[in-house]
Amino acid sequence: MAMAAGIDGISFYSSQYFVDLRKLADARGVDPAKYAEGLGQLSMGVVPPDEDVITLGASAAAPLVSRYQADEFDIVMFATESGVDESKAGAIYIRHLLGLSRECRVVELKQACYSSTVGLQLALSYVRAHPNRKVLLVASDIARYGLGTPGEPTQGCGAVAMVVSMQPRVLVVDSPSGYYTEDVMDFWRPCYSNEAFVDGKFSAKLYLATLEHTWNAYVRKSGLKFEDHDRFCYHLPFSRMAEKAHARLAAGVGSIVNGANRSGEDPPGLSVDPRIADGLIYNRVTGNSYSASLYLGLTSLLDNSREDLGGKRIGFFSYGSGCSAEFYSGTVSTGYRSQLFVEEHHQHLQRRTELSVIDYEKMFQFRLPTDGGNYPTPNYRTGRFRFAGLVNHKRIYGEAEATAARVSPHVGINGAAAAISGQELRTHDR
Ligand code: COA
Repeated sequence: MAMAAGIDGISFYSSQYFVDLRKLADARGVDPAKYAEGLGQLSMGVVPPDEDVITLGASAAAPLVSRYQADEFDIVMFATESGVDESKAGAIYIRHLLGLSRECRVVELKQACYSSTVGLQLALSYVRAHPNRKVLLVASDIARYGLGTPGEPTQGCGAVAMVVSMQPRVLVVDSPSGYYTEDVMDFWRPCYSNEAFVDGKFSAKLYLATLEHTWNAYVRKSGLKFEDHDRFCYHLPFSRMAEKAHARLAAGVGSIVNGANRSGEDPPGLSVDPRIADGLIYNRVTGNSYSASLYLGLTSLLDNSREDLGGKRIGFFSYGSGCSAEFYSGTVSTGYRSQLFVEEHHQHLQRRTELSVIDYEKMFQFRLPTDGGNYPTPNYRTGRFRFAGLVNHKRIYGEAEATAARVSPHVGINGAAAAISGQELRTHDR
């Protein structure tokens, strides 16, 4: 078998809670069709106080890494723009929670929603140079724009874990990339802010303009044409964005930069090109997961395609505000289906608990105090791992069952935090 680098396994985890966007539309006095058709979104994942990007990422990776030996990974890469520490890499917690070898490199990567793609490209280069070794790449994010803002219905959360190797049983990444970077302010989050600042319309324009730049560079380097691709996955801030991008690419990239209006496209919701439709299914119900979202799209495509995609070429467009973008492609491995977690993913989404808009708002505003005291988090439904609380400014993580049962006596309950329980979330003004 020819040596090829690519993705050997892929799995995702979102949160256990969601808000139905029809109810959010009602609460905000907006026509529900705006969210369902204008944005293409049905619901959004919401994280409870005892989940964060570390627990999302570790829970996404756990079923996948259990198929490998703990010492097969040379690097754990963690891609996020919702990091929990300005210094320590989230990959350290994740390596620990997963029980991987300590003889391992770790790093956290940041460039908005694009960092997972630069992580993937670096991981591919690494395994090409070390063909017997593997890289675990975890992308994990919580999209927050603020209550009542235009970005609110495009919030969400999720994590995707990928094993990168030279024996890729899911996807061979075999093309040159087209990539592009420019210094612009379409979306950013200063270190002092819990919510991002965004010029949403500008970011959508840049998304389409950088699609043109990267596509042209990709075509020039690869010699491939639009027709050489069987499926396309686009970065998914909301699913209509991918539909717009794809329509422009299909119509010829020359028209992309002329604006983001809908003229010449199908009416929303009526017809989604089958080359992208399966890739949108998960995002419509989890919402944006920033760095994870393109790869959630790949997971959705592979999991939900009725057609066997073995041997088919997929084009990928990654966009990260600020901004940086990349277009590349890969070929699905023969027999890839045996590597997927289709049943687990479908069950995970089906078993989520719906939140009322009021309860979602409480969760959104929840903060643990940051004065260095001992604060356990209230117990909610989580994935396999749980953020158990803060002790002397240190974050405590563990297996969900163990920490939910044990943390209170160990951490020592502070009166204020102990009062936080069940639906009675205490809110902390920022
Ligand atoms: N029925 C159907 N569609 C409707 C509608 C209705 N009743 N009301 C509005 N819409 C459509 C609009 O026509 C628009 O579609 P179009 O752009 O194809 O014309 C879409 O819904 C969004 O409405 P609009 O009023 O234009 O935008 P907004 O002010 O609500 O903001 C975003 C939308 C995406 C800019 C905002 O959610 C945001 O800032 N999100 C975060 C940033 C982001 O995701 N950027 C993307 C690139 S990374």
